[in-house]
Amino acid sequence: MKNVIAIVGSQWGDEGKGKIIDYLAGRADMVVRAQGGSNAGHTVVIEGTKYALHLVPSGVLNAGTDNIIGNGVVFDPESFFAEIEMLDAGGVDTSRIYVSDRAHIVFPYHKRLDLLSEQARGAASLGTTLRGIGPCYMDKVERSGLRVCDMMEGETFREKLARQIDAKNDVIVKLYGGEPLDKDGIIDTYATYAEKLAPYVRDTSVMVYDTIAAGKTVLFEGAQGSMLDLDFGTYPFVTSSHPISGGFTTGAGVGAGVVGEIIGITKAYTTRVGAGPMVTELTDETGDSIREKGHEYGTTTGRPRRCGWFDGVAVRHSARVNGTTGLALMLLDVLDDFDEISLCYAYERNGETIEHFPAGQKALEESRPLYKTVKGWRTNLTACRTWEELPKEAKDYIAHIEELTGVPVKIISVGPGREQTIMRGDIL
Ligand code: GDP
Ligand code: IMO
Ligand code: MG
Repeated sequence: MKNVIAIVGSQWGDEGKGKIIDYLAGRADMVVRAQGGSNAGHTVVIEGTKYALHLVPSGVLNAGTDNIIGNGVVFDPESFFAEIEMLDAGGVDTSRIYVSDRAHIVFPYHKRLDLLSEQARGAASLGTTLRGIGPCYMDKVERSGLRVCDMMEGETFREKLARQIDAKNDVIVKLYGGEPLDKDGIIDTYATYAEKLAPYVRDTSVMVYDTIAAGKTVLFEGAQGSMLDLDFGTYPFVTSSHPISGGFTTGAGVGAGVVGEIIGITKAYTTRVGAGPMVTELTDETGDSIREKGHEYGTTTGRPRRCGWFDGVAVRHSARVNGTTGLALMLLDVLDDFDEISLCYAYERNGETIEHFPAGQKALEESRPLYKTVKGWRTNLTACRTWEELPKEAKDYIAHIEELTGVPVKIISVGPGREQTIMRGDIL
């Protein structure tokens, strides 16, 4: 039985993955983060109380759900314990959170190197979240990273970490002309983290496997979005992991065949935070009104998000590389006040129509959106709870999105609250 649902971001992140994970976690046994790190900012709103989660899976607000931070995640203990404190203070049960012994650890030198390399790029900076994500994955791929299992090794860990800090201080000082980091301070801090972390550490691949084998329901919680994927996103303006469905099984340690349903979390329009091409970006009043109505400011960094119309070329590309079986169409209510709404069905470059998302930066920068424009519904959708209650124009808009992407819309979200969710069609 395929009892695994992958929740994947279809666009450039912040599509509302946290909300849908929390919503579906009510009937799931386990939620698994498999990639990314504390660059993610997932918002869950329950009865008006807002929780911003970075590393802890968004299933944590449902009692009885196991929450796994898998081997593919880059794990920042500072961010993790700050989150645990925040949840404990709010009376949330944090006893069912488990961290993979194979996850790589983010250290202060990763964050410093993230900043220094961004500064060195100057005008060509990527606009990263400065959470040390790229430098930590670099160490993993280069095979010099330290993992959670290393952290559990006492004196040996101190020695390994000391060597790493020496090597990184060399780069910080000699390559970037920066200040060296305090070696003893970092070692002591991480030795304390190691003690605190020990009770959370597991071979999570075994836990996920056993849960799936027992016929229970598992959700993979994607972070970032497909258009930030290292291979299929707008390289080099991407993150350093694979936020597409293929990344989830390697990042959780289970076979590729287990996933039964792949839900693409998709905003009813487009946003992006950080640098890089965005063909449907609106730098005018329309873009500003989407930003204000949608409160489009980053959950992790507070930066204003760039806003634009729905990009059917990007979401079609995302549906293909993910094998998306259904879309969750989010923030539909943000478009409530428009007389007309546009959807991009293709790009145009040098007189040529482009149907498939181009690889190159120049090709994307020179692409112009081709729009079809439809009538808005001009109705407040936030109280709608069923498909039947949606106005005809909203249903038509959804039909256009299904046609452009080739994927059925199975969930519709009309507000940040758990209850503001319309299920249309079965999931698993
Ligand atoms: P994530 O990173 O994909 O989990 O998304 P974020 O939490 O970064 O950003 C999504 C934002 O939209 C959050 O502030 C959510 O509370 C909010 N949100 C989610 N769904 C809806 C919706 O349907 N309507 C509105 N108005 N807000 C929503
Ligand atoms: P969630 O999970 C939106 C963006 C950054 C930057 C690029 C690389 O909340 O959807 P990084 O720090 O990963 O090296 O930055 O990726 N980015 C996100 N944008 N949502 C996210 O996560 C993001 N995580 C990274 O803004 O452009
Ligand atoms: Mg986010």
